[in-house]
Amino acid sequence: MTPPKIFISRLIPSRGLDLVKEHFPTLEIWPHEMPPTCEQLLEKVHGVDGLLCTLTEKVDAELMDAAGPQLKIISSMSVGVDHIDIVAATARGIPIGNTPGVLTDATADMAFALLLSVARRVMEGEKYIRAGKWKTWHPQLLLGADLVGSTLGIVGFGRIGQAVAKRAQGFDMCVIFYDPTADSVHGAQSVGLDELLHESDFVSLHVPLIPNTKRMVNADFLSKMKPNAILVNTARGGVVDQSALYDALKSNQIFSAALDVTDPEPLPMDSPLLTLENCLIVPHLGSASQRTRDLMSLLAAENLVAGLKGERLPNCVNPEVYSR
Ligand code: GLV
Repeated sequence: MTPPKIFISRLIPSRGLDLVKEHFPTLEIWPHEMPPTCEQLLEKVHGVDGLLCTLTEKVDAELMDAAGPQLKIISSMSVGVDHIDIVAATARGIPIGNTPGVLTDATADMAFALLLSVARRVMEGEKYIRAGKWKTWHPQLLLGADLVGSTLGIVGFGRIGQAVAKRAQGFDMCVIFYDPTADSVHGAQSVGLDELLHESDFVSLHVPLIPNTKRMVNADFLSKMKPNAILVNTARGGVVDQSALYDALKSNQIFSAALDVTDPEPLPMDSPLLTLENCLIVPHLGSASQRTRDLMSLLAAENLVAGLKGERLPNCVNPEVYSR
């Protein structure tokens, strides 16, 4: 039997790579720091049985057709799958794998790291020192916001939103959430979106990027937030209308924002958001801990191997392919 043809689009951690090689020693891996361009990817997937990709690759119908009808599995080393056309994959009977669960804590930690950094103006303090401005302790220097007693509003109360609520309990915050499909845990109270925006001192986004959530943080959403409010986004950049966010931050309609994700990524250096003191931006690091990325690569490898063997994926985004 000829071994399956496999393409892995980024240099993933060896934990996952070794597992794939154990089962299928012959594979092609994209070795460069930058991801393949659309054209390069179209060429590389030609004739593959299995594709392991990350969120930097757009996997659409054209790519699936360029691969060919033998394509059995698309495994993404990510929990979010907004870069993959799920409808097109399902129509072609291709299961899509993702990596839920293992990155929940790392991403919740990042949401909290950002929340604390902007609340207590950590980056501004660091810039202040490097600019040679630190002449004395001052009773009114870089005053920020307290967490204790404040209200945290979580938009999207899935695994990561709930893990953020758990952390907030330890900081004695009052936690409310908006998610019509979720039950209350960790003492968080379910509220409507408008109530959440009117009440929250911190608003943390944890929704997937789907048509309903695209640009949900728009001028109207921001106008309902408190003037002292801080917005944290570790979900997807596309959930936020960045031009509306810029206006709200520039005019101090809200206090500040901390973004782990932007649209596009990377954020162009001429983005107006980069001119603001009250906007902290980091380069999509939510799941970026060694252990978490190792585990993500392992889950992605397990999905790939299962798909190539014709078995059900341990973590499948479109299980309806199995009932066709
Ligand atoms: C990261 O953003 C992921 O979806 O895994």
